[in-house]
Amino acid sequence: MVSRVIPVEPFDLVIFGATGDLARRKILPGLYRRFCDGQMPPEARIIGAARTEQDSAAFAAQVAEAVETFLPPGKRDAEGLKAFCERLSYVAVDATGEAGWSALKEEMRDDVVQAFYFSVAPSLFGALAERLHHFEIARSDARIVVEKPFGRDLKSARELNATLAAHFDETQIYRIDHYLGKETVQNLMAVRFGNTLFEPLWNAQYVDHVQITVAEEVGVGGRGAYYDRSGAMRDMVQNHLMQLLCLTAMEPPAHFEPSAVRDEKLKVIRALDPVAPEHIVRGQYRGGAEPSYLEDVESDESLTESFIAMKLHIANWRWNGTPFYLRTGKRMKARKSEIVVHFKKTPHSIFDADAGSRSNVLSIRLQPDEGIDLRVTIKEPGPGGMRLIDVPLDMSFADALGPEAADVPDAYERLIMDVIRGNQTLFMRGDEVEAAWAWTDPIIEDWQRRADRPVPYAAGGTGPEEAAILMHRDDRRWREI
Ligand code: BG6
Repeated sequence: MVSRVIPVEPFDLVIFGATGDLARRKILPGLYRRFCDGQMPPEARIIGAARTEQDSAAFAAQVAEAVETFLPPGKRDAEGLKAFCERLSYVAVDATGEAGWSALKEEMRDDVVQAFYFSVAPSLFGALAERLHHFEIARSDARIVVEKPFGRDLKSARELNATLAAHFDETQIYRIDHYLGKETVQNLMAVRFGNTLFEPLWNAQYVDHVQITVAEEVGVGGRGAYYDRSGAMRDMVQNHLMQLLCLTAMEPPAHFEPSAVRDEKLKVIRALDPVAPEHIVRGQYRGGAEPSYLEDVESDESLTESFIAMKLHIANWRWNGTPFYLRTGKRMKARKSEIVVHFKKTPHSIFDADAGSRSNVLSIRLQPDEGIDLRVTIKEPGPGGMRLIDVPLDMSFADALGPEAADVPDAYERLIMDVIRGNQTLFMRGDEVEAAWAWTDPIIEDWQRRADRPVPYAAGGTGPEEAAILMHRDDRRWREI
């Protein structure tokens, strides 16, 4: 039942930072999978570019090693890998100097799609953009792909946008938020706008509240230096959770096309009210069997949060009075991401008091066990009068698609193919990123001004008690993690 693979046009994809972690873990294994699936045509070429001096054969050997390390055995085979490696070449370039750029230019063809993936620190975006123009390598229809972090506040995001805009048009810039490439995230749009069932109810009149949770089991060990400068707010909320919020709350776009979708998302961000400090809980995990946050970041004094829970209000007609609760954290009980829409209780119960009163809940599971579950109320079977219970109408992708579920492309695979197709729908526009920072900045500045200290929470749990209290105050509860 997985949809048919339609090959993309032939392309030259240059990956700057091709020997780095993201390229090894995600980009190159993802391209290999698209190649094996027949989506990447045989004429396509991938050109690795980095500072390291090495030849194409050495790069191909590195890529083969990365594929073997990061893809499970069932998802790779020696023959396919050999054929994929024949599509690879490598050029050593100096991002800020002269070396390598003429050689790169010679590698490029002018009759195929041209894309440049900046898998490097944002501080190099400007230099790369300038070099590509200086050496007349990038065509006016070239695409560039950039990764988060896209800035660390509004000012730096504006500067980055201006740096890129000096050489590229917005229609050429693909800012990746890998959450937008997740299968169920797109399914959220399919559920909302492909059915008549939900949209009439998708508003403050019928929705009591919405919960968006992204819980992770992992800690920050290994990337403590980066993380401690970011925290959950910058690392997860400003981008991934904000995107999930936008897709859940936005008005129906006129078409499923880039400007229409991104215009609607932008309106949601701009309609967000500032968040009062009492509607935010920041936490930091304590150690158990594993190191604590402070040990992971090698600091006794860090005030950075590894958990955040907040209550948001979207000030528009559709959502006035319906709170959105967001929560994300590291070293939680389980890896679980979901969007849960709690509908209001029936306005009047025709049943006895002991029948109970219920409300429908729609949950969209991003990971693990991707799927959609709608809880509906029925009569408890059997004798004993009219008692009500909730039962799930549950659609799990794994059940619905069978063994083919394993072949659904991962977020990076899908997004890179969208770059080649020239489809920006699932990428963040510059103004969206800036609007998200404009909302985030005052919150972070307030913490800094007050030297706000995150509250401790036990690793392997559900986050600080204060997060539960945030809900209890409103007579609500978080969903189980
Ligand atoms: C990244 C964050 O963007 O997303 C990480 O920097 C986080 O801290 C990761 O772990 C989560 O992604 P996923 O796809 O595993 O949910």
